[in-house]
Amino acid sequence: MAKPKVFVIYYSTYGHVHTLSQSLVKGALKPGTVDVELYQIAETLSEDTLEKMHAAPKANVPEITADKLADADGILLGFPTRFGTAPAQVKALFDATGKLWASKALQGKSVGMFFSTGSQHGGQESTAYTFLPHLAHHGMIYVPLGYPSAHMFDNDTIVGGSAWGSGVIAGPDGSLQPTYKELEIAEIQGEKFAQVVTKLAAGSEQKDNAEKQQSAAKASENVAAADSQNPAASAPAQLAKPAADSAPQADASAAAAGTSAAAKEKGGTMRKLVAKFKKAFK
Ligand SMILES: Cc1cc2nc3c(=O)[nH]c(=O)nc-3n(C[C@H](O)[C@H](O)[C@H](O)COP(=O)(O)O)c2cc1C
Repeated sequence: MAKPKVFVIYYSTYGHVHTLSQSLVKGALKPGTVDVELYQIAETLSEDTLEKMHAAPKANVPEITADKLADADGILLGFPTRFGTAPAQVKALFDATGKLWASKALQGKSVGMFFSTGSQHGGQESTAYTFLPHLAHHGMIYVPLGYPSAHMFDNDTIVGGSAWGSGVIAGPDGSLQPTYKELEIAEIQGEKFAQVVTKLAAGSEQKDNAEKQQSAAKASENVAAADSQNPAASAPAQLAKPAADSAPQADASAAAAGTSAAAKEKGGTMRKLVAKFKKAFK
């Protein structure tokens, strides 16, 4: 069986989320049970605007397309906050997923999120939960981080990240770089997420196999049942029922197939049978 695929997908203007994404990749590779691919989300701002914002040059990482999302078993999605919510670039990617929504292509895929904010209380958590409707509408499974690292209880230094996902505090002017604590939390998130994706993939493979076995068993039961109900095939000629008696059986199968003609005919046959019984017990 091929390994499940985890896509680490990020958008980053100044590079903080890109740096964090590398720790998520490292962590996701740790258990050795998933393949990991790194992508970035396409820019929607003009060169001119980016220059005025002093944006960092884009890293040499392939861009994700909406269609490509369907190839992942799990997605770790990272982005910097914009007024406590996701940036337009991420929204643009998801606004292009109408076809995937219609075909339920993302249904059941796991998603974890990671973030960056300028300030300590700038909205890492609100950025996570305001993105949840996208996941809900696609039927995707949100995998929160919880508190798997002692760094998350450290109140002596500024540490990004929360139960919603790992994170970086970039500083109001973007001058802070991800700390080793933030990177460690991100690595743990990658690892935990890979474990969840692996378990879900194993579970769905088991379910597929069980379903295949069940439908094979059902098919052979049906063949056996059809044989036993077909007197011409299974009963000796002298024991075969007269055509009139076997009519209800034929009717029942046709009615089960949902034809209204068969249903009408079944009603007629029942009336005939009732009349027969009445006559016999007179
Ligand atoms: C339009 C805009 C809105 C922003 N809104 C917030 C905000 O609500 N809270 C906050 O802490 N930082 C805010 N920031 C700062 C960014 O989150 C910060 O630049 C980012 O986390 C850096 O990540 P990056 O290097 O990956 O781009 C905003 C930045 C921009 C450009």
